[in-house]
Amino acid sequence: MLFRNAHAKLTRRIRSVSLAEEYWKRFRIRLKSDEEVEGIARAGELVVRTLDMVAAHIRPGMTGESLNGLVHAYTLDHGARPAPLDYRGFPKSVCISVNEEICHGIPGSRELREGDIVNVDVTSILEGWFADANRTFLVGEVSREARELVDAARRCLSLGIEAVRPGATLGDVGHAIQRHAEGAGYSVVRELVGHGVGHAFHEQPQVNHTGRPGMGIVLVPGMVFTIEPMINQGGPQTRRLNDGWTVVTADGSLSAQFEQTVLVTETGVRSLTPYAL
Ligand code: MF3
Ligand code: CO
Ligand code: CO
Repeated sequence: MLFRNAHAKLTRRIRSVSLAEEYWKRFRIRLKSDEEVEGIARAGELVVRTLDMVAAHIRPGMTGESLNGLVHAYTLDHGARPAPLDYRGFPKSVCISVNEEICHGIPGSRELREGDIVNVDVTSILEGWFADANRTFLVGEVSREARELVDAARRCLSLGIEAVRPGATLGDVGHAIQRHAEGAGYSVVRELVGHGVGHAFHEQPQVNHTGRPGMGIVLVPGMVFTIEPMINQGGPQTRRLNDGWTVVTADGSLSAQFEQTVLVTETGVRSLTPYAL
C-alpha cells in the first residue's frame, strides 16, 4: 500500500529512468537529473556574471588579448576553468568574434574600434559542470544596420527558447529562429550548430538553427542544450581563416550571435545561463 503522492512520485521516477535509457540508446543524449542540473546552473551563473564583467569593461581601444586576460582571471578567481583553453588546440580562454567574424575568433592584438560589434563566447567548467553562453556587444556608437542585425540575432535566441517545452521538437526550435531571421531579410548559418552540454563541452544532440515544425528529436524533461543562432546580414556561407579557427562570412557581411544553455523542464523551459534578452 502506497500513499497517493508517493505512488505518483515513484511513477514519475520510473518513467524518467526509462526515458533516460531510451534517449541514451537512440540518440546518445544524456538527460540530466535535478542534481546535475543544479551543477550546470551554478556554472551558468558564473558564465552570466563573466559576460556582465565583460560588458562593464569592453570599450574602444581595448584588444581581444586584454579581454581574454580579464575572462581568464575572473574564471579562475571564481574556482572555475575556461573550457576553450586547449580545447582541440584552441589557444585562448574565450572566443571573441568581431564584425564579419561569425564565431571561434581567437583573441589577439587587434584593437576594438568604435562601431564594432563583438561577440564574446564564454564557457566555464565549475566543479566538473560545463555551461556555455555568449552575447554580441556594441562598441561605442554603432551603425543602425549593425544594431538592427544584433537586435534580430537576440530576438532569434529569444524565440528559439520560447519554442522549447516537452513535446515540442528540435525542428520547432530551428523553425522559430529561421522564420524570424529570414523574415527580417537576414540569413542563418548552417555549418555551426547548438549542442547538448553539461558533462562535456559538446554533447548530443546537435541543435540546428533552421528547421521544419514537428521534425526532429522530441524534447523531454532533463534535456540540456545550447541555442546559439548565428545570423548574417548577407548570405549564410562561411569561410575559415588560416588560423584554423576563426569562421567568417564568405561575403564579408556582418554576423551576430547570442547563446544560452537551456533545460527542458516538466512544464516548459528554464535557462541555466539566464540574462535578459
Ligand atoms: N563556445 C563555442 C560554442 O558555443 C565553442 C568554442 S570551441 C573553442 O559551442 F575551442 F573555440 F573554444
Ligand atoms: Co555553444
Ligand atoms: Co559558446
